[in-house]
Amino acid sequence: MKGVVLAGGLGTRLMPLTKVTNKHLLPIYDRPMIYYPIQALVNAGIRDIMLVTGGNNAGDFLKLLGNGKEFGLRHLNYTYQEGEGGIADALRLAEHFADGEAICVILGDNIIEGHIAHAADTFRQQKIGAKILLKEVKDPQRFGVPVLEGERVLKIEEKPARPRSAYAVTGLYFYDAQVFDIIKTLKPSGRGELEITDVNNAYIAAGTLTWEVLKGWWTDAGTIESLHLANQLVCQTGANKREA
Ligand code: DAU
Repeated sequence: MKGVVLAGGLGTRLMPLTKVTNKHLLPIYDRPMIYYPIQALVNAGIRDIMLVTGGNNAGDFLKLLGNGKEFGLRHLNYTYQEGEGGIADALRLAEHFADGEAICVILGDNIIEGHIAHAADTFRQQKIGAKILLKEVKDPQRFGVPVLEGERVLKIEEKPARPRSAYAVTGLYFYDAQVFDIIKTLKPSGRGELEITDVNNAYIAAGTLTWEVLKGWWTDAGTIESLHLANQLVCQTGANKREA
């Protein structure tokens, strides 16, 4: 399985912190934000990784990460997203890299306490389709929210005003190679983006999406409040440190 870290976008919700740098280069306690999702993939045994970035500071990622030696990697792959066309638009750029293999995708502003090695293993056994990881949160309206019926996810609603469950769809996704064909069928949403939620809903419609609840804490770091929370959580308990 290959890994893709999505670190494009403009980080406008963090202005002025993101006026002269990329959101994913901001510090989370003692490391730049981008270190955490890369480490999460490496801890899951994924060593072939592509970073999708964009904006004016793309070159800084190369200076910071090089070939990924700090993570025990021999090589890191990079690609560049023009504009801010959405998460699925950024993922589209990894088609050539994936080359028909299954992928584990992680959003560059997602930080987890534990490991996703177990979820990666169950997805390897699943062989086709997709797998998402859910987490109970206090503010589901900020996220993609699953509508559940027993063990079944009926659909996912993106940032619903009235969430129909207490879960967020975290920014950790497993996909088979079909994901790139699905992305080609997407239309931009109301916010002008190709939505990862539409990708996941296509897998639900095909009956090939599975899910697990992520153990340990999880947070994004894309707003001032969640950036602050991420710093506190990492400072107090550390990240990527145990099997989840
Ligand atoms: O954090 C989990 C949530 O992430 C999910 O629950 C939502 O379903 C999903 O849509 C997403 O929501 P956000 O609105 O918080 O995503 P955001 O626009 O903040 O983008 C998250 C990361 O995705 C960002 O850190 C980098 C990457 N990204 C985003 C965009 C819009 C890109 O690489 N390119 C992009 O154009």
